[in-house]
Amino acid sequence: MEERKLDNSNNDEVEVNEEDDRPMLSSQALAALQEFLAEQNQTTENDTESHTVALVSEDWRLSQFWYDDVTAETVAEEVVSLCRDSDSRVACIACPTLYAYLKKIGPDVSAKILEYDMRFEQYGSDFLFYDYNKPEDLPLELKHGFNVVVADPPYLSKECLEKVTQTVSFLAKPGDSKLLLLTGEVQKERAANLLGLRPCGFRPQHSSKLGNEFRLFTNYDPGTRLGGWEQEN
Ligand SMILES: C[S@@+](CC[C@H](N)C(=O)[O-])C[C@H]1O[C@@H](n2cnc3c(N)ncnc32)[C@H](O)[C@@H]1O
Repeated sequence: MEERKLDNSNNDEVEVNEEDDRPMLSSQALAALQEFLAEQNQTTENDTESHTVALVSEDWRLSQFWYDDVTAETVAEEVVSLCRDSDSRVACIACPTLYAYLKKIGPDVSAKILEYDMRFEQYGSDFLFYDYNKPEDLPLELKHGFNVVVADPPYLSKECLEKVTQTVSFLAKPGDSKLLLLTGEVQKERAANLLGLRPCGFRPQHSSKLGNEFRLFTNYDPGTRLGGWEQEN
């Protein structure tokens, strides 16, 4: 039985059986697929036990580090508590885990997820493709349409935070919007200067342990929630 090899976009080898035209994976690709499926099964079993939200696997090339359950639940509960008005609208910028938990904890909350990773197209019309390099390349009808905006920029650079700030300003309703930023402690001064944010006591954690200290910054006083606003020195 003769087989020919095709290139696919992932540079894996896919072989096509000429008799029935069904693609067949090369032995290397098959081994990788089996490993992937085993991981997925493991995730599903864990999800059933702990009732956590199923997430796609992290792609570190896209700077993807998902929150742990406590962090995702804490921030999602905070957002739900900010959405008491029925016309509240939430923009989740580059924080797909938060979006997923938000939809679990507050299914009626109106939310959009702005993401670069097309796998999140699974969220249908709530998904918007977003590249922070084009911070205002967004549908005009969304301008100033959100009273809660949460962002977790992919990088800890000044340039990235400046561009994400442009997006936050584009999306947020001027005047009375609640802003939440999850990012490295190193961005503390910039978060204050660019967006008027202060750090809370609550420390975001990730399911993969990171070397950087992460903080949650807000533009409003959360009271006793989120560990309170850090006092200024
Ligand atoms: C530090 S992670 C934040 C994820 C968050 N911790 C969570 O659990 O949902 C940064 C996010 O930025 C996204 N990202 C990567 N490149 C991007 C780009 N060029 N523009 C916008 N977002 C990007 C990644 O897909 C990832 O979801």
